Amino acid sequence: MNTPAAGQAVRTTPRVSGQYGVVPGATERADPCTMVIFGATGDLTRRKLFPALYQLAAEHLLAPHFAVLAVGREPEETDDSYRAKMRAALGESDEVKRVDEEVWRWLAQRTHYAGGDATDISAYHTICERLDEIEHERPKEERNRFFYLAVPPSVFEPIVQRLSSSGLVPRHEDPNTRPWARVVVEKPFGHSLETACDLNALVLSLFAEHQVYRIDHYLGKETVQNVLVLRFANSIFEPLWNRSHISHVQITAAEEVGVEARGKYYEEAGVVRDMFQNHLMQLLALTAMEPPPSMTADAVRDEKVKVLKSVRWFTPETIPDLWVRAQYGPGEIKGKAVRGYREEPNVAPDSQTPTYAAARFHIDNWRWQGVPFFLRSGKRLAKRVSEIAVQFHSPPHLMFGGEAKEHDELQPNTLVMRVQPNEGVSLNFEVKVPGAAVAMTQHVEVAPVDMDFSYSEAFGETAAPAYETLLLDVMIGEATLFTRSDEVEAAWKIIDPVLNYWAANPANPMPTYPAGSWGPKEADELITRCDAQWRAPEGDHAD
Ligand code: BG6
Repeated sequence: MNTPAAGQAVRTTPRVSGQYGVVPGATERADPCTMVIFGATGDLTRRKLFPALYQLAAEHLLAPHFAVLAVGREPEETDDSYRAKMRAALGESDEVKRVDEEVWRWLAQRTHYAGGDATDISAYHTICERLDEIEHERPKEERNRFFYLAVPPSVFEPIVQRLSSSGLVPRHEDPNTRPWARVVVEKPFGHSLETACDLNALVLSLFAEHQVYRIDHYLGKETVQNVLVLRFANSIFEPLWNRSHISHVQITAAEEVGVEARGKYYEEAGVVRDMFQNHLMQLLALTAMEPPPSMTADAVRDEKVKVLKSVRWFTPETIPDLWVRAQYGPGEIKGKAVRGYREEPNVAPDSQTPTYAAARFHIDNWRWQGVPFFLRSGKRLAKRVSEIAVQFHSPPHLMFGGEAKEHDELQPNTLVMRVQPNEGVSLNFEVKVPGAAVAMTQHVEVAPVDMDFSYSEAFGETAAPAYETLLLDVMIGEATLFTRSDEVEAAWKIIDPVLNYWAANPANPMPTYPAGSWGPKEADELITRCDAQWRAPEGDHAD
């Protein structure tokens, strides 16, 4: 496939923000601002946020007046000791290949630490003082701030209340107000439909929607954003993108890792809250939505909400048929024995929390009537792989392949958007097997081949880690890749009945699958009932 060489100029379209907070014509370099991180000593800050800030600094995308105020519970920590920890974190990060000391010095000079409990109003006095110190050289209209809640969901509410009552985040109806104040909330956003609605109500009673950035890090992935580009920047796909040509869609988010040290969180969450309510619903929405009139934040999000609202509701009558839940048992990953879910730390020995789920979705609109969407996600599966596979109908009549090649044996065309790893797109189709001997036979032999596009081959290693894109977007006021309140609620409305049904009807026994396999046999039955089969996706290791 002909692809641009790494570094070759490629035409880009500036992303133009809609009504939310961007001055028209602004360049995509961050506004001068201070990032206040709550949960500064936590895992997310170390593993994702600082590596992303470092990358932004290395690419000169941060304003010279950028600063970080890290707020953590360790009172002993100082600016210097905190900087040393973050420097060590960069060294351990997979996302930072090599730390350039000059870039790090630039970022370190702008990194400050304040000890305090963010749920306690008295901490806000210190935070205000430190912000004044850090920002005193900046003109008042450049004292933009965003507050990143890298904290457990149980403390979201008190923190947003304190942010408002301390005056740190005043409500701004006008998105062009300067200096701006924004709040970034990590997932999970709520534990159920009811709690998500309550949290939205609280947040929107304090701030305007345009000030709130709800993170779903899947939306920051290049390949997820590429779903829209592939669909809407090419004219060949759209005419085929409907029930007349597509037989079904499979969306997979498979992980090799188990619950690791997160047993306590995961017992409460389970795979449906952890992966379906957010990441998989986003992949479904991007695959199935109508073309938005423009790429503004609201136009895109309006279309996503519409498609989520068209998902057929799950009911107690349909759930047993349309959903499968399971837990991983002991097994083998990369040749090493691993324990089962119920033996993991902080997991109950009789836990009912699913680590795997598969489901059949239907979208009740004209485009998708009768096209099943099969979704699956699980921990401790055979490979780490996330992809969207669009399978087209088989040809209506076949003259090729002869008796040996039954109609069923021909692979229908499949377009696969590989989210990760080996990011790219492939399209498979059938071709004639070459060879004179073949031509002599009565029948033409046919075989499937792949046409493959790989991001790294085409562009080199340029994919920005999701958090880098998302942090930059917060700083430029670009909300397209964040979930709006109605979108979060629409996704919960789909998922909530399933969680309620499962809570009321424990699995007896809970289906299991060996760690390192592709999931339980019940999931195979779910899809074969529709005359389809799960794909065996390509992953990043094949041992
Ligand atoms: C997170 C989940 O949102 O996504 C984790 O809480 C999961 O359980 C992770 O491992 C997967 O993200 P990625 O980017 O590694 O596919």
